[in-house]
Amino acid sequence: MALIYVVDDDSVIRSNLHDYLELEGHEVETFSSGEDTLLRLDKDTPDVMLIDLKLPGIDGLELLEKVKETSQLIEVIIITGHGDISTAVQAMKLGARDYIKKPFDMDELSIIIHKAESARKIDEHLAYLHKEEQVRMGFGEIIGTSDAIKEVFRFVSQVAESPKTTVLIRGETGTGKELVARAIHNNSERKDKPFIEVNCSAFQETLLEAELFGHEAGAYTDAKQRKKGLVEISHEGSFFLDEIGDMSLGLQSKVLKVIEEQVFRRVGGTKLISVDTRIISATSRNLEQLTSEDKFREDLYYRLNVAMIELPPLRERGEDITLLAEHFVSVYNAEFKRNVRGILPEVKQQLIDYRWPGNVRELKNVIERAVLFEEGEYISFDSIRITDSKQAARTSDFRLVKESLIEDFAEGGISLDEVERSLIEKALKSANGNQTKAAKLLGISREKIKYRMKKFDIQYLANG
Ligand SMILES: Nc1ncnc2c1ncn2[C@@H]1O[C@H](COP(=O)(O)OP(=O)(O)OP(=O)(O)O)[C@@H](O)[C@H]1O
Ligand SMILES: [Mg+2]
Repeated sequence: MALIYVVDDDSVIRSNLHDYLELEGHEVETFSSGEDTLLRLDKDTPDVMLIDLKLPGIDGLELLEKVKETSQLIEVIIITGHGDISTAVQAMKLGARDYIKKPFDMDELSIIIHKAESARKIDEHLAYLHKEEQVRMGFGEIIGTSDAIKEVFRFVSQVAESPKTTVLIRGETGTGKELVARAIHNNSERKDKPFIEVNCSAFQETLLEAELFGHEAGAYTDAKQRKKGLVEISHEGSFFLDEIGDMSLGLQSKVLKVIEEQVFRRVGGTKLISVDTRIISATSRNLEQLTSEDKFREDLYYRLNVAMIELPPLRERGEDITLLAEHFVSVYNAEFKRNVRGILPEVKQQLIDYRWPGNVRELKNVIERAVLFEEGEYISFDSIRITDSKQAARTSDFRLVKESLIEDFAEGGISLDEVERSLIEKALKSANGNQTKAAKLLGISREKIKYRMKKFDIQYLANG
């Protein structure tokens, strides 16, 4: 049972289709022009539309494009006269599900409509499965549901509770090191005191020393007055030393002294000053290698390594990708006052398959651009600017999986549970039994696919 709109300028066809489809149990409304239909679409959304190619005013193809702009979920079937097959093919490229030739074969029409309904139900169900994934966890702005990110949450809450412990955060660029550092501070008893950050690669040695530890009056020619350093300002709070791998050996020993003895000296000063701060450091460099090259102090390395977390690259946590992407869509909707409703499933798949060398920062930038430039309701391929050759093959695999499922569903009248089951089976098959890949194909987590395999008692062994 579906809500079907019929758009045809021929009143006989309208009333025939109306009566026939109503007999089949559908709710039917008819329109004689594209303009009338569009007015109606502002108020209500049908499941399926039958559109005649030749209409007075705006023609069938134009109407199809406008309908798809309103909602990608509406299934469109094109009605063609003899001789417009090539236009019908063009319509399929624009997103029509199928076409039917005049004069109608009513049995064929029933089958086509039934298939369109099934496709729509499956799309809705997939959208629901994606939603189910979107459980957000605490810790302010850190978003994710992957095992890897859960491990990060656990780490943050543990070290937040021991406010003196020194923390080291490792990870590629853009994986969220600074975000995690702030989350540790904000969840600790130090949260109402300063969180100070310094990027060690942004200053040369002498400047960095003065920034960190301050100076006494007369320390250099233009140092007229005593100046407090940032370490001192972070007293009772947290001190975030970003890119600590880039710090000189001389400064490393001064930082070690802050960690071990909670004291430091200002530049040009002799007095030891006490400070109570928690050092949180971060690096994207290989500290072990720097240590073996004598560019990083081994004693400092061991001190920093007491509580260490490695943030995983984004490409290794596929299930977080769609979650983060959708999160950024709403962030930028708000920022740019746009109203993008989501991301097309095929585009999500492309996002999952991409390598993301710039990690979450890169994803954020890609979505920012897409929200700004997207003209339709959902983010489409055109507004996403990433390229990856492996992606094309995977997406077409996924299409095949879905197409064959729609066929089964339409023909057998099987339940959604069974659809889900065979969706999972087919994904597993096309991923040759690899659960991670199958989960990626479906855009759901590996845990979820495992849970469902258990629920449906699916056993799939590659080559077995
Ligand atoms: N799990 C996450 N949830 C939400 N936003 C995230 C997440 N991880 C990173 N981000 C966002 O991605 C961007 C990059 O994060 P951040 O600056 O913390 O990375 P970084 O590891 O410090 O990068 P770099 O090494 O280049 O300094 C930020 O805008 C941050 O808010
Ligand atoms: Mg950073």
